[in-house]
Amino acid sequence: MTATINLPKIMQIGAGAINALPATLEQLGCHYPCIITDSTMVRLGYTESITDLLNAHGLGYGLFSETMAEPSEDSILPAVALVQREKYDCLLALGGGSAIDTAKAIALLATHGGSMRDYKMPRPVNLNSMPVIAIPTTAGTGSEATQATIITDASTDEKMLCMGPGLMPIAAIVDYELTLSLPSRIAADTGIDALTHAIEAYVSRKANLFSDQQAIAAMKLIGQNLLKTCQVAKDLAAREAVMLGATLAGIAFSNASVALVHGMSRPLGVHFHVPHGLSNAMLLPTVTEYSISSAPMRYAQCAMYMGLIDNIEDEDQAHQALLNQLKRINKTLSVPSLAEFGVDKDVFFSTLPLMAEQALASGSPNNNPRQVDKNEIVKLYEIAWES
Ligand SMILES: [Fe+2]
Repeated sequence: MTATINLPKIMQIGAGAINALPATLEQLGCHYPCIITDSTMVRLGYTESITDLLNAHGLGYGLFSETMAEPSEDSILPAVALVQREKYDCLLALGGGSAIDTAKAIALLATHGGSMRDYKMPRPVNLNSMPVIAIPTTAGTGSEATQATIITDASTDEKMLCMGPGLMPIAAIVDYELTLSLPSRIAADTGIDALTHAIEAYVSRKANLFSDQQAIAAMKLIGQNLLKTCQVAKDLAAREAVMLGATLAGIAFSNASVALVHGMSRPLGVHFHVPHGLSNAMLLPTVTEYSISSAPMRYAQCAMYMGLIDNIEDEDQAHQALLNQLKRINKTLSVPSLAEFGVDKDVFFSTLPLMAEQALASGSPNNNPRQVDKNEIVKLYEIAWES
């Protein structure tokens, strides 16, 4: 069996990597970029640092600074029109996963037309679009190195998953110094999202030798440093480790898929507006405990790679260490319960059958080591409510 691997063509990694942006554009033959970002990036001065670099190199540019969290198709259409009208030759996606996902969708629609519904799974996006250079400012989604984007259809609230090599950014600039001023809540949520990517890619039924290596490295980097980044102000070595780990975790799941946690997480975002990283965090201990029996060695290895045990002579002990650590991470990083987040109990329980159907329809649960049906997913949501 072979694995088809997709990666960005160029990756600039490390402190100050952002300064390589003009050289990267030159390498790609791009001369007229449009920055795709949100108003926070403008307010915090991130956008200005990019435009200063472009100005210093005599490059003209455009700016669309109205990307939104959990982007809807309606929100990206003005940018599609702008990009087509001004004939930019590439997009600079600056921000968290939402800004990068937005830029991927803009590139696709600006190049090929149609609507995002035309490109949603199971139809793969194989078409090449205008180049996207991803500049993540969070250490989490890994979107800079994935061939996926999620765009919401506002009329139905459906989160449309679009995947394929045509959605892979052509370049990624992974500069952990861009994450230093992240609010602690966002740093925690995105970090747990990245850890979830690494674990799910490692236990996925689509895991392969290549994705395993990325997932193992990501578990080591994130698992051994995530709490440090949130507890010690400006622990630069830990920040660097988690940033690289998040990108590697993105590569891992982009080439092996995520599983049940992500499948169940997306409906929590749709119905209760729980941010993506937070909903993963709420589900990760419960889904891991449920799934261990179907991949005991893999989950024991997760504990070892996260630095929780020295060896896996005793699998039960390894599993306990993993579950304890996932719960400890949530407690230390103040992850709220669903009730504490403000989810209404009656609405939650009455929505469970629909959420379970949507989780199954996403396809992600098929990759889980332990297979589930609708009733089992409902039960898992119920357990997560009590956690
Ligand atoms: Fe995720």
